[in-house]
Amino acid sequence: MVTTENIGLRGIVAATTHISMVDGEEGKLAYRGYDIEDLATNSTFEEVAYLLIHGSLPTADQLSAFSQDLVAHRRLPSAFIASLDMLPLNTPPMAILQSGVSLLAGYDPDIYDESMEANQRKAIRAIALMPTIIAAWKRLKNNQGPVEPDDSLPLAANFLYMIRGRRPAEEAARFMDVSMILHAEHTFNASTFTSRVVASTGADMYASLAAGIGALSGPLHGGANAQVMRNLLDTKDPELVESWVEDQFKRGKKVSGMGHAVYKTIDPRARILQSMARSVVKDHPEYRWYEMTERMALATQDLLMRRKGKHIYPNVDLYSASVYHAMGIHHEFFPAVFAMSRSAGWCAHILEEKFPSPPVRPALYRPESTYVGPSNRRYVPIGER
Ligand code: COA
Repeated sequence: MVTTENIGLRGIVAATTHISMVDGEEGKLAYRGYDIEDLATNSTFEEVAYLLIHGSLPTADQLSAFSQDLVAHRRLPSAFIASLDMLPLNTPPMAILQSGVSLLAGYDPDIYDESMEANQRKAIRAIALMPTIIAAWKRLKNNQGPVEPDDSLPLAANFLYMIRGRRPAEEAARFMDVSMILHAEHTFNASTFTSRVVASTGADMYASLAAGIGALSGPLHGGANAQVMRNLLDTKDPELVESWVEDQFKRGKKVSGMGHAVYKTIDPRARILQSMARSVVKDHPEYRWYEMTERMALATQDLLMRRKGKHIYPNVDLYSASVYHAMGIHHEFFPAVFAMSRSAGWCAHILEEKFPSPPVRPALYRPESTYVGPSNRRYVPIGER
């Protein structure tokens, strides 16, 4: 029976998972039992991707082999780039990424091998290639040639390098790395669930990932970070932030980057990004966008308290926007940057769906629906309608 409490599967436990845990009341997130703050402070995206996929932190040798594998699979075949080059320039980056990831199936020698080992290899290739697809499209869209990956750089820094054609400063590279760690996984959200549903049919890794990318592309999910930047650009002047927020409320619109369906306190990822964002952009000519972000958060909190007596907190999408913008990433690409970060979590969930730990067995998702349409209708020939 569908009720206002369980609509959209809210509150329904659909599966067990070993991958991550969210505590919305306490504002906690842990990957494989490790607190997100601990990982953001001490780890790297490569190490976190290993942790999510394999279930435990790697030894130095395991991390080195995993990172080398990611580096070895970063290059797109020239035919793939040539096919991107033929597409209309206004193709949305998420459409490029979704289609591009589907097409990777054709280049994967393991595509018809559904063993655990083959699927882990596919996961590495997908995680390695998603940043290259996004960066190549960004360059082609700007009438620039794609930049070859730099094998000496880790994944996040190499992404910035391929986007801009110059190596990022250490602090910017660390920000991108931490941002990727923070976006890498978040339990059974819409895109992860979508990937799992597709994997549960026996579809391959790329088909499952592409479905997740499609789900993430919506403005209610992975599109919020781009909307934060659009709102900042729309407001333009720091002095106009408060009246802009007031106007949003008047029109019954939500302020992007604020509030969360699960966290009832500050999103732990937003807290980490907030302090990093401030230090990355403090001397940057684009600092005012960060300042405006802070004002937007305060104005929203203040107004919601005054109008409805309710608390609201920043979410993960709030603080990345102004920093990605300062790094030269256009906001239309923000959801794709989210997707390349989430690739690690999606791969872990697809693997868990395909190879669940006993006693759980693989099961095709097949919920019921309540039919509320008309019944007992008789077919009327077309000439009599
Ligand atoms: N701006 C203004 N008001 C907001 C708000 C926002 N971003 N988010 C929530 N509120 C209001 C709600 O309208 C609600 O008031 P009401 O009970 O009178 O309707 C109140 O705050 C409490 O909302 P809550 O139940 O905690 O959140 P939710 O489950 O209704 O919504 C989101 C959660 C994420 C859908 C919502 O916060 C939102 O749309 N945020 C903006 C988009 C965004 O940043 N998404 C990325 C999420 S990671």
